[in-house]
Amino acid sequence: MEKLKNAASCIRSLVEEKNLKMPELLITLGSGLGAFAENAEQLLVIPYSEIPDFPASTVAGHKGRLILAKDNDSGRNFWIMQGRIHYYEGYSMQEVVFPLRTLILLGIRKFVVTNAAGGINRNFDAGDFMIIRDHINLMGTNPLIGKNKDDFGPRFPDMSSAYSRKMAILMQKSAMEHGISLKEGVYIALSGPTYETPAEVRMLATLGADAVGMSTVPEVIAAKHAGIEVSGISFISNKAAGLSLNPLSHEEVSENAAKAEKLFSAFMKRFISLVLEEKDE
Ligand code: HPA
Repeated sequence: MEKLKNAASCIRSLVEEKNLKMPELLITLGSGLGAFAENAEQLLVIPYSEIPDFPASTVAGHKGRLILAKDNDSGRNFWIMQGRIHYYEGYSMQEVVFPLRTLILLGIRKFVVTNAAGGINRNFDAGDFMIIRDHINLMGTNPLIGKNKDDFGPRFPDMSSAYSRKMAILMQKSAMEHGISLKEGVYIALSGPTYETPAEVRMLATLGADAVGMSTVPEVIAAKHAGIEVSGISFISNKAAGLSLNPLSHEEVSENAAKAEKLFSAFMKRFISLVLEEKDE
């Protein structure tokens, strides 16, 4: 908690120094989806390395920067996390959710999470986008294990509506305006770093998953713990193992994401505006 407060106060002074309004929304960008950040109006850029105790990503294609951006349509500010760290990098679950929790201390109320994932649902193709309707935590651990942080939320948080329907409707609206037909489904998270075997993919399909990845679930759990409204989208960067003839590679995942970056960027920009324009109730 001390470390979180320390990181938060470092960011707060940088925001105050520039007289900027503190955002209430955070979007975390997944593998290869960074173009969204490049196209945003950036008011403040903080490399993770300049924030005390912020863990740095060790994965190619994951930049580590916290950006305070302005949405010109609504006139409101929002946070972008360009690059995240993963459990498979060897960080503890507590470390994985450290950046998100820092921003929770700084007052975010809404969290938009994006990732690249393998498509399990046979109706999904590489290049599709999937609204995350729900998730399955198969990482074998949970960021809330240990003494409960009462400052954030309760010991046993409700997960019965982890992903906001209201925000999903706004996502659909933005997608329609951009001629994108969104898929919708269940995201299942494994620890990685291996991609799955075909037998595992068949198992995951039986369990009710539509897409598989190695991120997102820890952050969503920590956000829901703190009562934050969450919305998530997966970029289907590849068909999951065994569903196509190609072997999987991080290069393929990154290349496919790069192809979709422009469209993703425009569609997310509009979505963020719609969320920020919403009247607070
Ligand atoms: N499996 C797990 N994680 C992933 C995949 C996959 O096929 N694609 C992108 N992230």
